[in-house]
Amino acid sequence: MSHHIELPPLPYAQDALVPVISAETLSFHYGKHHKAYVDNLNKLVAGTDLAELPLEKVIAATVGKADKAGVFNNAAQIWNHTFFWHSLRPGGGGAPTGAVAGGIDAAFGSFDNFKKEFANAAMTQFGSGWAWLVADKGALKVVKTPNAETPLTAGMTPLVTIDVWEHAYYLDYQNRRADFVAAVIDKLLNWEFANANLARVG
Ligand SMILES: [Fe+2]
Repeated sequence: MSHHIELPPLPYAQDALVPVISAETLSFHYGKHHKAYVDNLNKLVAGTDLAELPLEKVIAATVGKADKAGVFNNAAQIWNHTFFWHSLRPGGGGAPTGAVAGGIDAAFGSFDNFKKEFANAAMTQFGSGWAWLVADKGALKVVKTPNAETPLTAGMTPLVTIDVWEHAYYLDYQNRRADFVAAVIDKLLNWEFANANLARVG
């Protein structure tokens, strides 16, 4: 069996995001959920022409294809989760810096307005999905995507994301998604990562 796609390492220890995200949640979320997407994808593409493609090419080759939904869902979830881990850091959150700060002010008027819009996207994503800050044709935007969908396939550049699948917060917050989202925005968002992503599109 091909093991072409590997589970990327977490960029910090499993207890590094305590108390916002417990070590138990990270252990399940990374060690079980994220790993399962990797294992599933490797099984699904084994022996096919997708097996040798890098992850982003697998996503691009399968998006919107009903007969490839399983491959797309697992591939996009691998990418989204790796991006999510890097969107967080111990001691993060609060006001952004650098070009992202200017882009947020230009697009939303203020950091407070951005926070409201980002939290609102996270709260109004019905069921499972993701809230994103993206760069789209030179402007920053907040978007939400259902299930495994990712703004990558719409030609947008993700800057940071929040996973709002229940598995992301249920052990720590039960049904209180709003508390999880507010804590991530206030204490974990990795603005250095957002600036690095924005710098790549110029
Ligand atoms: Fe997740």
